[in-house]
Amino acid sequence: MRIINIAVDGYSSSGKSTLAKSLALKLGYKYIDTGAMYRAVTLFSIQNNLIENDYVKVNSLINTLENINIEVYFKSNLSEIILNGKNITKDIRSMEVSNHVSNISKIKEVRYKLVKQQQLLSKDKGFVIDGRDIGSVVLPDAELKFFIDASLNERIRRRFNELKRKDEKTTFIKVEQNIKKRDITDEYRENSPLIRTTDSIYIDNTNLSKSDQLELALKFYKMIV
Ligand code: DC
Repeated sequence: MRIINIAVDGYSSSGKSTLAKSLALKLGYKYIDTGAMYRAVTLFSIQNNLIENDYVKVNSLINTLENINIEVYFKSNLSEIILNGKNITKDIRSMEVSNHVSNISKIKEVRYKLVKQQQLLSKDKGFVIDGRDIGSVVLPDAELKFFIDASLNERIRRRFNELKRKDEKTTFIKVEQNIKKRDITDEYRENSPLIRTTDSIYIDNTNLSKSDQLELALKFYKMIV
């Protein structure tokens, strides 16, 4: 069977990383979570006072970009994120990071740096990569592309339950506001917005179980390898 690259794009909390991870594990491919890389830059910005209230000090961040070293380390084919030598895989999931990550990810220079790194990481085949611009910008030539969607309510519910499981103090309303804001920023930003490319396979998983979704995706995979 030929080895390919698989791009998985979609809205926040649509279940794209669940699909991407399970595809990677099933196929023995490596999984890259590009959202985690934008979250790492966001965590760095918070820790280094580059965000004040809701305002990102864009020029200062651009000037310090070269000091931000992000490494993707594969552990059982899933990715762990190292920021300047420290494993921050868990720290980047907080509401604080989620609240600022859209503003960080719309900065052209940040995107340029991370997209270059993502392309380098996946230059050999055998990767499942998820994000917002994978099929459109990072891997426009990926052999298989999915666009994952679910209803807004379902996405809020999933994210809220995920945070509750982690004991994060939040409310349904706060999660709703965060997801709606991120949807708008992701879709309408100037630099590589979230788009559904014409060559991607659209999956709405509102009423699909995780295993149904994986099975469906595998059917498409088998059609092309
Ligand atoms: O997938 P996620 O929710 O962890 O992504 C966090 C943010 O990063 C999301 O709001 C949009 C941004 N992002 C992006 O702009 N491009 C990507 N390829 C991945 C994520």
